[in-house]
Amino acid sequence: MRRTRSGPSIREFLRYYVLVLLAEQSRTKRQLVQGIKQRSADNRSYRSSGALWVGSGEMDKVLSELLETGFIQPANPDNKWQITWHGRRVRRQIERDHQLESDGKERAAEKLLSLLADAPPNSYILDVGTGGGFLALKLAQKGFRVLGIDSGSFDYSKDSIQQAQQQAYSEGGNVEFRQADIGQLAEPDDTFDYVVSSQAMHCMQDQVACLQATHRLLKPGGRFLCIDFLVGLKGFLGHGWHCFLAISREEWVELLLENGFCNVCMYEVDDYLLVEAQKRLKANTQG
Ligand SMILES: C[S@@+](CC[C@H](N)C(=O)[O-])C[C@H]1O[C@@H](n2cnc3c(N)ncnc32)[C@H](O)[C@@H]1O
Repeated sequence: MRRTRSGPSIREFLRYYVLVLLAEQSRTKRQLVQGIKQRSADNRSYRSSGALWVGSGEMDKVLSELLETGFIQPANPDNKWQITWHGRRVRRQIERDHQLESDGKERAAEKLLSLLADAPPNSYILDVGTGGGFLALKLAQKGFRVLGIDSGSFDYSKDSIQQAQQQAYSEGGNVEFRQADIGQLAEPDDTFDYVVSSQAMHCMQDQVACLQATHRLLKPGGRFLCIDFLVGLKGFLGHGWHCFLAISREEWVELLLENGFCNVCMYEVDDYLLVEAQKRLKANTQG
């Protein structure tokens, strides 16, 4: 994954957050980039590259847009920028417009289940980073055969697998839970019809390794369905800096295509993104 982030999702967030920073005090472009990196520094406890480091060209684009719309103005000397009265009003309006009421994660999971409506009942599904079995148990209730794995990497997730097992015991269904890291799962290649994941990709130490393992484990033509935070303004207002640990829409397209997937589709559900992709049947036979 690149160190500096760019693209429409990041720009959408910056158009808002530059106003937040300038409402506190006038800043230079460099101070704006540094301010964002410092405020997201806690993300480094998940991944050393987890802080949001914005590309300089990206910041230039946003500053010139904000200048054009009259939300900011130059505050010379020192090449500083300051927010205008209009900019302050717009920033407050953005916060009012984005107050979310629905449970985006549940709604994203419903959408994921609807995408499996045509799946054969004997499909074998892997749930990566299953935690307490959020997706695995729903899928087992639908009659699928499910394996839920979790590395137990965090204090909060050390006992997740045991909790999921207890839940499965009371709910029933053809589901197995195992403590395992996706990169080290010792299942043969081409085992699963589907690989699913909810809110786990953002906390992976190595997201590319996870995608490669997913690709290896899927049968040719099998599908990957992944829910995670939406990177951008909605994601930030719903989940704070954490959302930038996730993969943006534009980064997903690049990563999936580079790692042997095709037919990429994405669905925004409030502050979550559901990504769907297919493992190629054979090299170069699908676009
Ligand atoms: C935020 S929890 C999400 C749990 C559940 N899927 C849900 O939606 O409620 C993310 C989980 O991913 C697990 N995880 C992180 N890296 C992993 C890896 N490489 N392999 C398997 N699980 C992993 C963590 O232990 C944690 O339980």
